[in-house]
Amino acid sequence: MEQEVNKIVLDKTIIPADNQHLFQQAKMFEQLMMMYSCAIREVQTKFEVLNDDLSVRNRRNPIEMIKTRIKRPESIAEKLARRGLEISVSSIISNLNDVAGVRVICAFVDDIYEVADMFLRQDDIILIEVKDYIKNPKPNGYRSYHMIIDVPVFFADRKQLMRVEVQFRTIAMDFWASLEHQIKYKKSIENPDVIMKELKSCADVIADTDNRMMNLRKKIIFNEHPV
Ligand code: GTP
Ligand code: MG
Repeated sequence: MEQEVNKIVLDKTIIPADNQHLFQQAKMFEQLMMMYSCAIREVQTKFEVLNDDLSVRNRRNPIEMIKTRIKRPESIAEKLARRGLEISVSSIISNLNDVAGVRVICAFVDDIYEVADMFLRQDDIILIEVKDYIKNPKPNGYRSYHMIIDVPVFFADRKQLMRVEVQFRTIAMDFWASLEHQIKYKKSIENPDVIMKELKSCADVIADTDNRMMNLRKKIIFNEHPV
């Protein structure tokens, strides 16, 4: 039953032309991207609702910002080609988990786990995979909490489970990752090893600062509301 819902159904347009296959793929691609963009909106709304509810309860916003992105066609084709996979609409559906991406930027490290747990407790969210790069940072220093989920989206004539990648970061983790991402694609760096070592060191300082800030906040809350 679950399997049946999960199978993404796309309309097949009938085009009586030599390039029928191409047009059909283009039309299906357009429809698929629309579906991923709707899934992003569903997930974004869920986090906005959580943030509103928590801000009324606790007088504090655990979510600082939500960024969303849909993978560009070039990036989709490049990733499939790099993995030696077919470049087609059905290949995108079965092989890529990150066409729809939502990044939730939280104030403090513990907000990440709290918001992520609340999100996963929602009974329409199906968890596919979690990668905790906060507890287990990457060797380069990258920290973030990743999850791949399926979310149901109601379209004109059907309900469809759509796959979305959600990344949770603190402001500091996001600041580091943005710079690291820019540097990674700079081919003209003179001393890449020195830069990478320096970046790793910055990541560790940032993680330490994140923890100290979280502990400070806990102390302040404790002093305001002693138990
Ligand atoms: P991808 O094929 O890159 O999607 O990797 P993956 O399928 O093994 O998933 P993973 O969870 O490791 O990474 C998914 C996404 O996290 C990436 O597309 C980036 O957006 C982000 N990410 C992962 N590692 C790094 C990193 O070292 N630096 C930065 N800046 N971002 C990273
Ligand atoms: Mg990716």
